[in-house]
Amino acid sequence: MDSYVVFGNPIGHSKSPVIHRLFAEQTGEQLSYTTLLAPLEDFDNCALGFFTSGLGANVTVPFKEEAYRLADRLTERAQRAGAVNLLSKLDDGTLLGDNSDGEGLVRDLTVNYGLQLAGQRILLLGAGGAVRGVLEPLLEQGPAALVIANRTLDKAELLAQAFAELGPVTAAGFEELTEPFDLIINATSASLAGDLPPIAASLIKPGVTHCYDMMYGKEPTPFMRWASEHGAAAALDGFGMLVEQAAVAFEFWRGVRPDTAPVLKALREQLAR
Ligand SMILES: NC(=O)c1ccc[n+]([C@@H]2O[C@H](COP(=O)([O-])OP(=O)(O)OC[C@H]3O[C@@H](n4cnc5c(N)ncnc54)[C@H](OP(=O)(O)O)[C@@H]3O)[C@@H](O)[C@H]2O)c1
Repeated sequence: MDSYVVFGNPIGHSKSPVIHRLFAEQTGEQLSYTTLLAPLEDFDNCALGFFTSGLGANVTVPFKEEAYRLADRLTERAQRAGAVNLLSKLDDGTLLGDNSDGEGLVRDLTVNYGLQLAGQRILLLGAGGAVRGVLEPLLEQGPAALVIANRTLDKAELLAQAFAELGPVTAAGFEELTEPFDLIINATSASLAGDLPPIAASLIKPGVTHCYDMMYGKEPTPFMRWASEHGAAAALDGFGMLVEQAAVAFEFWRGVRPDTAPVLKALREQLAR
């Protein structure tokens, strides 16, 4: 059977196998999709071993940069992101690396939540791998301003410089920001430790600002709670981003686009239990 995996370390918590199983059931595709715990020091051999017979892989923390280096060819967006979350074996046996995180985020924001990003002031918190992957697709939407704020300011500045030719992107420290934004996206891993980046409540315009945390879980994250407490128009999590980036992979591999809405609904019900 055609075989796909998600590489990570740790990987036991991954929702990707159940997402792809539901996509396969919905579309009638016959495939196997499992987790593969890659050793921290030997991603390359593990991945190459899988691809002797496997057809495609998602790649998650901490291997997105290794996957970028391993790929024989890269899509333009993966090249710019410097990170790969999707590896596919092509007919000639070479490995193509892509980055679908940004497309997943933009689809979640614009299709699932119906947000319009053109002309909006957007704040991105964080300057790690996830931000690198979403900058180009966000800028393609034509925001009025895209500000990257990060604890380590240098990293935000480097990213803003690297993507400046694509649109109005600038960098700032958390404490410099006081004016409200239309959309605030938390792409720091602070929520993992139950923390919140030190940002002013004045960044939220009550009833107008939408807040989105790339993290998700059974309960609202600290950032989502902060957003609700200060009157944000919505406090959203990143579960839809995960499902949407999986749909991009599924369509590339199988040539059929799954309907993400029923899958998201079923998985949200499972997540809440
Ligand atoms: N939903 C999805 O499909 C999806 C996809 C990709 C990523 N994500 C999530 O996005 C988040 C970021 O992932 P990543 O790959 O970009 O991680 P990463 O490369 O490790 O970057 C982490 C970022 O978080 C910042 N940070 C960490 N702890 C912080 C704290 N206590 N206060 C303020 N800033 C803090 C870091 O700042 P410094 O630079 O100062 O260290 C850095 O900018 C993770 O929670 C991940 O699970 C979700």
